[in-house]
Amino acid sequence: MAQNRVHAPALIPVLAIDGPSGSGKGTITRLLAQRLGWHYLDSGALYRLVALAALRRGVALDDAAGLRALAQSLDARFDPAQPDKAYLEGVEVGEALRSEQCGNAASRAAAIAGVRAALLERQRAFRKAPGLVADGRDMGTVIFPDAALKIFLTATPEERARRRYKQLKDKGLDARMNDLVKDIAERDARDSARAAAPLKPAPDAVVLDTTEMSIEAVVERALTLLRERLGKSK
Ligand code: DC
Repeated sequence: MAQNRVHAPALIPVLAIDGPSGSGKGTITRLLAQRLGWHYLDSGALYRLVALAALRRGVALDDAAGLRALAQSLDARFDPAQPDKAYLEGVEVGEALRSEQCGNAASRAAAIAGVRAALLERQRAFRKAPGLVADGRDMGTVIFPDAALKIFLTATPEERARRRYKQLKDKGLDARMNDLVKDIAERDARDSARAAAPLKPAPDAVVLDTTEMSIEAVVERALTLLRERLGKSK
């Protein structure tokens, strides 16, 4: 019994990192998971996988029942040792997932309540000892409301577009700054205005504006806050 209690998911600490596209969440979450030796959840990848499956199977992005069914039966797998890789029906699709087309489609699929409900338990199953760092839009508000620490990262839309541009160019992908600024504004509006789990900080989240912060500074700040929280709760 005692052992069951020790392994009860609610006692496994979660560090929830939420925020809009381009706020640095992905990079920061991965670094934090590495530094802590914790598990890592890229929840956006799940929405991207649903969108990719829909694009490939010809399911329309406004077909709520079709998308929910895809999300319920999603054959997705991640490789903890290689966070850039993701498998859809056994095939590696990491690069296709990161395209702007897929990100925009994911934002549309993610607005459907049935899709979110279908992915809920799958996300919670990532909570394993010794801890989980989870990246998304509703990690602190919906998926892990009892997270040990909730951080909401922001940055100006211009800075986020600049970061995205650099990321795409570094990968040798085509990108135009004007299109990215427009895409980011559209996605922010859709992710924030939707009825189902809109993008917003949890009331108990620490909001960090990263516009002028280095990645390392954000990671250090998060680690300090986490140590304080875990220390206090003991
Ligand atoms: O983090 P990302 O860019 O990979 O996410 C892609 C889209 O998925 C994003 O526009 C909104 C949606 N999303 C969501 O609604 N909830 C999450 N927890 C993660 C992503």
